[in-house]
Amino acid sequence: KTGLFTYDPGFTSTAACDSAITYIDGDKGELLYRGYPIDQLADKSSYIEVCYLLLYGELPSKAELKDFENRVTRHTMVHEQMHYFYRGFRRDAHPMAIVTGVVGAMAAFYHDSTDISDPEQREIASIRMIAKLPTIAAMAYKYSVGQPFVYPRNDLDYASNFLHMCFAVPAEEYKVDPVVARAMDRIFTLHADHEQNASTSTVRLSGSSDANPFACIAAGVACLWGPAHGGANEAALNMLRQIGTVDRIPEFIERAKDKNDPFRLMGFGHRVYKNYDPRAAVMQESAREVLDLLGVENNPTLQVAQELEKIALEDPYFVERKLYPNVDFYSGIILDAIGFPTSMFTAIFALSRTVGWIAQWKEMIGDPQKKIGRPRQLYNGATMRDYVDISAR
Ligand code: SDX
Repeated sequence: KTGLFTYDPGFTSTAACDSAITYIDGDKGELLYRGYPIDQLADKSSYIEVCYLLLYGELPSKAELKDFENRVTRHTMVHEQMHYFYRGFRRDAHPMAIVTGVVGAMAAFYHDSTDISDPEQREIASIRMIAKLPTIAAMAYKYSVGQPFVYPRNDLDYASNFLHMCFAVPAEEYKVDPVVARAMDRIFTLHADHEQNASTSTVRLSGSSDANPFACIAAGVACLWGPAHGGANEAALNMLRQIGTVDRIPEFIERAKDKNDPFRLMGFGHRVYKNYDPRAAVMQESAREVLDLLGVENNPTLQVAQELEKIALEDPYFVERKLYPNVDFYSGIILDAIGFPTSMFTAIFALSRTVGWIAQWKEMIGDPQKKIGRPRQLYNGATMRDYVDISAR
């Protein structure tokens, strides 16, 4: 009844999963984390507090938040041996290829938190991944630009620590701008969970085989990389650059409508939202703040993005199909303005979504009823037939 996929002979396979973590109403454009609307959390909360909420179901007291933040902070360093692991990659490796490999390899370093039958080990594995994903992603960035790794600092908050690990260099002090840190923290919050999307379903399915938590999250990272899913933020910015100037937008709008043209408006449309993605609205506000601060408000990419959004929201093709900008449409603009290369965008999405994957995995592992064997199939291949020798073929 409560598996991820249920099979009813009366219909083609239906996917159903009960969960108490995140609620989406695609028609109303509503997104709730444990009942709290995403715009209120993005405005009033912090990513580390949202992590606590997603994992334990309630907003923490001051003392609970401080204890949780300390537990996470004290696990932000990775095993020193992992530094050598990075040296095996080519410098031009895509950061998502590195993050996928390194997260899976965590099971080779943290043997004391791979036994999923032990609640204590499940908890420590969860804290370790939430704490170390920013370090792992930042190391992938540093490795790709040929700069030395920067260690995490316990005096910085989660978002500031990530920015510092990415942009600090030994040669000079790097001061994290609070407006940029706030925008970064909101991006983490807006991407933290999104009910049973492709990568979360991958994590749940992997977890149903009792695979260790690091392997399950590595499977989620691999799935998120796809340009139709988490890779859309990288693809959306590359698309805006491909369009280049406002006067070229009509040509690309026509291409997006042409079924014979593989071109898609990346950052538009959603499997569930047939209304505006509530995350995109918050993201758009953050984009303005960061671009004003960085004095790039006349950034050509933003001008193309704003003009494209305006046209797409008026064009009957998009209006009829309810194709609105999604979370990925604006996140790429902010990350680009902060200074990240497009290749880092999905790695940042992955570190943000790690808490959501873990919360969903823990919910499933904690309730045997929610574990699934394997999705059923509707077979439509050849009926039984005898082998034909090659001489007769
Ligand atoms: C994420 O599930 C999640 O929660 C995912 C996510 C999360 O937080 O985990 O929200 C993150 O994955 C957001 C989506 C990121 N992907 C993109 O931005 C890639 C571009 N978008 C499309 O690939 C597409 O919109 C999908 C994959 C997102 C949704 O695909 P669907 O369900 O097939 O889209 P649809 O049902 O809304 O399509 C209806 C019509 C179709 O045309 P018709 O057959 O009706 O003529 O709209 C067309 C589609 O061809 N269409 C597009 C389009 N998206 C859909 N046409 C042009 N450009 C687009 N972007």
